[in-house]
Amino acid sequence: MNENHDLPYQPRFPTDYRPGIGIIGSGNIVRSAHLPAYQKHGLNLVGVYDPFPEATQGVQEQFGIQHIYGSLEALLADPAVEIVDIATFPEQRIPIMRQALAAGKHILAQKPLALDMEQAREIVAEAERSGLKVAVNQNGRWSPPWRIATLLIQDGAIGEVMAVTHLFDVNFGWVPGTRFDVIPHWVIYDYSIHWFDITRCWLAGKTIETVSAKEYKTSNQPDKSEAAWGMWSEIHCLDGANAILRCVGGSHSRQNGHYFWIHGAKGTIRGCVLPDRFVELDSEKAQTRFDFQGEWFPDGFAGTMGELMWAIRENRQPYNSARHHLASLALTLAACQSAGNNGQPVGFNEVI
Ligand SMILES: NC(=O)c1ccc[n+]([C@@H]2O[C@H](COP(=O)([O-])OP(=O)(O)OC[C@H]3O[C@@H](n4cnc5c(N)ncnc54)[C@H](O)[C@@H]3O)[C@@H](O)[C@H]2O)c1
Repeated sequence: MNENHDLPYQPRFPTDYRPGIGIIGSGNIVRSAHLPAYQKHGLNLVGVYDPFPEATQGVQEQFGIQHIYGSLEALLADPAVEIVDIATFPEQRIPIMRQALAAGKHILAQKPLALDMEQAREIVAEAERSGLKVAVNQNGRWSPPWRIATLLIQDGAIGEVMAVTHLFDVNFGWVPGTRFDVIPHWVIYDYSIHWFDITRCWLAGKTIETVSAKEYKTSNQPDKSEAAWGMWSEIHCLDGANAILRCVGGSHSRQNGHYFWIHGAKGTIRGCVLPDRFVELDSEKAQTRFDFQGEWFPDGFAGTMGELMWAIRENRQPYNSARHHLASLALTLAACQSAGNNGQPVGFNEVI
């Protein structure tokens, strides 16, 4: 049965609030996902700053951006910019966030928020003292299959979540030679953070006891590649619920995908987020495959920005607030620590 349950899974924006957006860092992800998403939803793109002139070449014409700023200070000094969208790497992110908060701007920061928990906690505390809204770009939360799954869980459709399983049937042949190849624990820290993040959303309210992980080079990785392509990670909760993330990394298949299963006490949700997309609910009542529109890239990026705008408009914390991201980052960093210690479990003992 194909159904659309009228679940509010799509990105949404306040109709009476169109704040000016200033983008800091105009790299690959901004040009391929942030800007197309904002353009699709008619957002107010005030300007962009990137220290490398070639990074901003053509973006004004292509996306209808009003200004290319010559410096970060010029962007932050523009009163037309209310929200800054920071899409640099984490090394530059924290100092830029501090400057943006001092300039009175709300922030959407790319993931992972920081390199370590100390930095992350400090910037969250600083953001909260400022009274400004700071969100993290966990755009996977708004990829339609994951968003539908989250709404179904919140609605009690499968009862208590007992087990989450992710399988990344993917090939990372695109990584060698890129900046990602030299990021320590790249496959866990930079790539899988979206999967740690969505898993903790689905296990919300539980106490995580331990996290363990291993990473390994696959037998078919080219010699020149640095980052491990393969990894697995296991998350255990105090009540027995658990999650497994398994990344094949070097798979050769015509049906690549990031598949997931969520087993609850009363039903199961299964689906795939990338590149193939589906989501279905298998419960006592029926097996339902959902009709939906949109995809993670770029619609997930509209989801994160829309949620931040609603939070500013309604003066509340966004669902993707920097504080909410802290547990996702902590889980991810614990998995990196475990992988660096040959899979030894890392004690967590935190309610997420
Ligand atoms: N799904 C996702 O959310 C997703 C996907 C890909 C990348 N990312 C994240 O986005 C970030 C950027 O990735 P990318 O692939 O676009 O990298 P990139 O190297 O293509 O872009 C980074 C840009 O930041 C600019 N930059 C560097 N220092 C700066 C500074 N001080 N001020 C302003 N701009 C500065 C660089 O010139 C570059 O254009 C990373 O943290 C990555 O993990 C997220």
